[in-house]
Amino acid sequence: MSPNHMPPISASAHDILQSYSDELEMIEPDESETAQAIADAMLSISRKTYKHSGHATRSVHAKSHGIVRAEFEVLGDLSPALAQGLFAKAGRYQSIIRFSTIPGDILHDSVSTPRGMAIKVLDVEGERLDNGRPSTSQDFVLVNGKQFSTSNPKAFLRSLKMIALTTDRVEALKIAASKIFRRIETAIEAGGGESGLLKSLGGHPPTHILGESYFSQLPLRYGDYVAKFSVVPASEALTALVGRQVDIDDDYDGLRHAVSDFFAQNDAVWEVRVQLCSDVGEMPIEDATAVWDESISPFVTVARIAAQAQPSWQAPETQALNDSLGFSPWDGLAAHRPLGSIMRMRQLAYQKTQAFRSERNPLPVEEPSIDDAGPADSVVGNAWR
Ligand code: HEM
Repeated sequence: MSPNHMPPISASAHDILQSYSDELEMIEPDESETAQAIADAMLSISRKTYKHSGHATRSVHAKSHGIVRAEFEVLGDLSPALAQGLFAKAGRYQSIIRFSTIPGDILHDSVSTPRGMAIKVLDVEGERLDNGRPSTSQDFVLVNGKQFSTSNPKAFLRSLKMIALTTDRVEALKIAASKIFRRIETAIEAGGGESGLLKSLGGHPPTHILGESYFSQLPLRYGDYVAKFSVVPASEALTALVGRQVDIDDDYDGLRHAVSDFFAQNDAVWEVRVQLCSDVGEMPIEDATAVWDESISPFVTVARIAAQAQPSWQAPETQALNDSLGFSPWDGLAAHRPLGSIMRMRQLAYQKTQAFRSERNPLPVEEPSIDDAGPADSVVGNAWR
């Protein structure tokens, strides 16, 4: 029997779930060469922007629109199938959230691209993945779309090389193109469709970054099972922002200001949800473009994230924290091992670009620490002290 057709197991009278096994992944013989080429292409972006700015930034998702502290609460009374890994028992953790947009260069926000939400849950317990540097956190690294752009690493490498060519070049052209792409995308969406390509090129609608839902797009191990993750706005102040447009045309940092304005007045609550894989035949692991059918397996809430009103951008402190933070889907528990070829590619790429940032910036990328007894601003990295 092929490993991808291992029999699903029944977790309860109602759920048929795919059990996790190391054999679910199909590793291509030349994968390590492709991983190296992807990491090199990513690094070439950081090198290019570093040459220009003298500061080492992330090779993608370089611009941050806010960093906030939050409490990550694992819900009690989860069913046995959902009570896995970090979610095995109810608990409360300190966490840090960074909001970003995808380009590797720091651009005017009118170049409107998909949004990112990276969550670092601090001081979690359990067997860890080896990610090459000390860490005690569980990261969730998400974007606001359900589908990854390319199905496999080689196709991704081809598109990445194109992106690398356009990074750090002619911002004015990108601003002008973004306006045109946004108009076309609006017309496509009015007809019920959407274009991931147009959005990534600057055609993303100018939506409020806090009104978005975020997705892992790709699967992770979920203890005995396999799941994709999402984080969705839950509190009234956040859901009021769903679909809300922000004035980005006249404000270089329009998204950052929108996030600051929100957190000056409001608390925020998100739900963390998982979509369990019921059968890898229907819900493949190795095809990164596969969107799992929610009518077969809906997303179910397993945790809540609560952030109090707080300053979400305070220069220079937040800029320093931005430098010292390093998120990766591979910073986490063995129970939440990232799965599939694109996930496997990510490990080396994040390691290399974070090492590049550490070597060049005054503050290295390192694990933040917590002063449990302190007030909300007690989540510290070197940068936060
Ligand atoms: C082969 C595929 C991918 C590669 C090679 C890749 C690579 C990278 C790299 C090198 C960084 C910067 C790391 C740093 O310097 O700290 C990054 C950041 C990021 N990536 Fe990916 N990525 C991939 C796929 C994805 C996917 C599928 C998602 C989400 C669904 C994602 C979301 C993000 C986000 C949100 C950040 C910003 C993290 C932060 O706030 O620091 N990436 N990615």
